[in-house]
Amino acid sequence: MTTPLRVLFVTSELNPLAKVGGLGDVAGALPRALRELGVDVRVALPKYEVIDIAKYPAKLVVKQIPLSRCGITENIAVWKTVTPQNLGHGGWQRESGHTERSREALAEHGARCDRVPGLRTRERNIEVPVYLIDNPDYIGSGGIYFEKTAFVGSFKEIERFLFFSLATLECFAALDWWPDIIHCQDWHTGMIPTLLAEKAKRDERYRSIKTLYTVHNLANQGRWNARDVTNFLCLDLPARDDGDLNLMERGLRNATAINTVSKTYAKEIQTPEFGEGLARLLKSEGDHVYGIVNGVDQEFFNPETDDFIKQTYTQETVNDAKSENKRDLQRTLGLPESDAPLFGLVSRFTSQKGIELVAEILPDLVRAGAQCVFLGVGEEHLEQKLTDAAKRHPQNIVTALRFDAKLANQIYAGADLFLMPSKFEPCGLGQMIAMRYGTIPIVRKTGGLVDTVTPYAGGKTDDQGWGFAFQEFSTEALKAAALEALEVYQDKPTWQHLIQNAMAYDSSWIHAAKEYVALYHKIV
Ligand code: GLC
Repeated sequence: MTTPLRVLFVTSELNPLAKVGGLGDVAGALPRALRELGVDVRVALPKYEVIDIAKYPAKLVVKQIPLSRCGITENIAVWKTVTPQNLGHGGWQRESGHTERSREALAEHGARCDRVPGLRTRERNIEVPVYLIDNPDYIGSGGIYFEKTAFVGSFKEIERFLFFSLATLECFAALDWWPDIIHCQDWHTGMIPTLLAEKAKRDERYRSIKTLYTVHNLANQGRWNARDVTNFLCLDLPARDDGDLNLMERGLRNATAINTVSKTYAKEIQTPEFGEGLARLLKSEGDHVYGIVNGVDQEFFNPETDDFIKQTYTQETVNDAKSENKRDLQRTLGLPESDAPLFGLVSRFTSQKGIELVAEILPDLVRAGAQCVFLGVGEEHLEQKLTDAAKRHPQNIVTALRFDAKLANQIYAGADLFLMPSKFEPCGLGQMIAMRYGTIPIVRKTGGLVDTVTPYAGGKTDDQGWGFAFQEFSTEALKAAALEALEVYQDKPTWQHLIQNAMAYDSSWIHAAKEYVALYHKIV
């Protein structure tokens, strides 16, 4: 028997222990799928103060590992827990201690933490070991990220993740477990390949370890004054022309291999429009920027077992159930109970998500007799726009500025259409969740939205499409797609066909996991 591949999945977020956005969802689901394929994958996560140890029992496995940095010695402790387990009711996200930002991001992706886990997971008993890296000075207080936007606002945040990266590399001997691959996520772990190379200079046990660096959002790069960073690490690293050091860039330059979370985004980020200043570097990697499309947790998002929705359903029962869920949603929102087409949007309200475009087409949607519900929080001016629209058209529009796990799923199940006109979208989850619930997505043709939504092609009975897509990031283009959708909505047999196609889309994690395994093998 060959020994399984050992992969350490290093992440700043992990659903349900410490989740802010989509990265947390990926970390919560992908390692589990990899384990099912026989990979000895383990997760390393900072032991944040917000992790509820009562709910996710962790054992102290290494009390003290000394970490020498710049002539001083600091200590690390390592705790061990497993995921998923104990995902039960009660909702970790409802407790205090969670940042605004966590609630905000949860609103984007709806409910997945607040429920009893699918029995199937328990039966399969897939448990992923999670190492919680502990240090009181850098990790043990102050939430997950320090800013509502999750973008870096202070050196404290850079320091936290530099320390976490150093500490992670220091644990292998004490744990008596050496990975073949360290799988890094986003800027927080971007320094790991560099630090690994430094370790390897002095310790041969580090020499065979390879790295995979995954970009979840290129816009958030972890940039800071190079002097502060190099002083913290006591390493002589080159600054960029602007005097900064960019942790995302370090990861991209120094990892054995790099990938992102959809095939289209992998291509897009090699262009100036999407490259966030790193297009030239990414273009030089060309075909070596792999794209692997994320999945959706099939147990958390399952219309067959969802206890938040009025009527559970399958592909066979969707038509009746959807009407019932729609009426229930209309009642809940105080909208007239009618067959008016109902648009849903569950998102962070940021310009990345194209919220201003949505706000601008509202008069047209209202004129066409549609209803809309917007759930989420975010940039104030966008919240304001959607709130104003709801005030102006109370019979048609409801804006809920909050995180509401239950309402999110009620929208996924009860709406007819789901809006996701993102300016850019590395992968996107909302559209896939909507599809699982038979809700037809209207998306911009970008990133993961291209890879996951096949547009309706106009009336052929063998049409395999299930969404509406537009290219140009403009009000006119979104409006045209929405009006086309409204027209098709009137044609019930066609609409039902679209719903069937949407629900047939297989968003399970197994496909991505297989691609990651192939990439891991390529790397080692
Ligand atoms: C980021 C991206 C989102 C992606 C997620 C998980 O949040 O914005 O598109 O789905 O990461 O990879």
